[in-house]
Amino acid sequence: MNRNEAIKRIKPHLTKERYEHTLRVADTAIELAGVYGESEEKAQLAALFHDYAKYRPIEELKHWIIKSNLPKDLLDYHHELWHGPVGSILIEYEHGIQDSIIKNAIYYHTTGRAYMNKLDMILFVADYIEPGRDFPGLEEVRRIAKKDLIKTAWMVSRNTINYLMSRNNTVYPDSFYAYNYLTRKIKRKDGLNG
Ligand SMILES: [Fe+2]
Ligand SMILES: [Fe+2]
Repeated sequence: MNRNEAIKRIKPHLTKERYEHTLRVADTAIELAGVYGESEEKAQLAALFHDYAKYRPIEELKHWIIKSNLPKDLLDYHHELWHGPVGSILIEYEHGIQDSIIKNAIYYHTTGRAYMNKLDMILFVADYIEPGRDFPGLEEVRRIAKKDLIKTAWMVSRNTINYLMSRNNTVYPDSFYAYNYLTRKIKRKDGLNG
């Protein structure tokens, strides 16, 4: 599916702000794919569809989690976490996208996961650093994103967990699995402090 076709299919499902965010995530993901040797085409498609399920009614998201083989413990967590996993199912069901690399990147774009692959990390990072975002500490993450994808994904994971905990929110286990995986990977490589 080319860019124009994908845009035609996602646009009706997104608000104006979310659509513009999606285009910026796609540009950022393509850029990262170029830097780190990932398929720009897959990065673009994953990014364009990453928030596809974001505006489905909560009851519909719930229905998909119950009906499909998605983990049921998702239902114990905030519904903000549901659009990635459900989106990965809907893009196949409604648009015939079967590529598991793309589906996984979408599935885990909010939490990350253990053994994240390159495309998982690219989408996870692009969603966080796209140029429309602005919050303390982001410039540092953007700077590292030009040099080290794993370190950047680790920073995004750490910052996200810190943010959730500072607000006394629950944290889905995949977020911790991602953090632990990335921490170990970095420690093996260059001895992250601690
Ligand atoms: Fe999202
Ligand atoms: Fe997003």
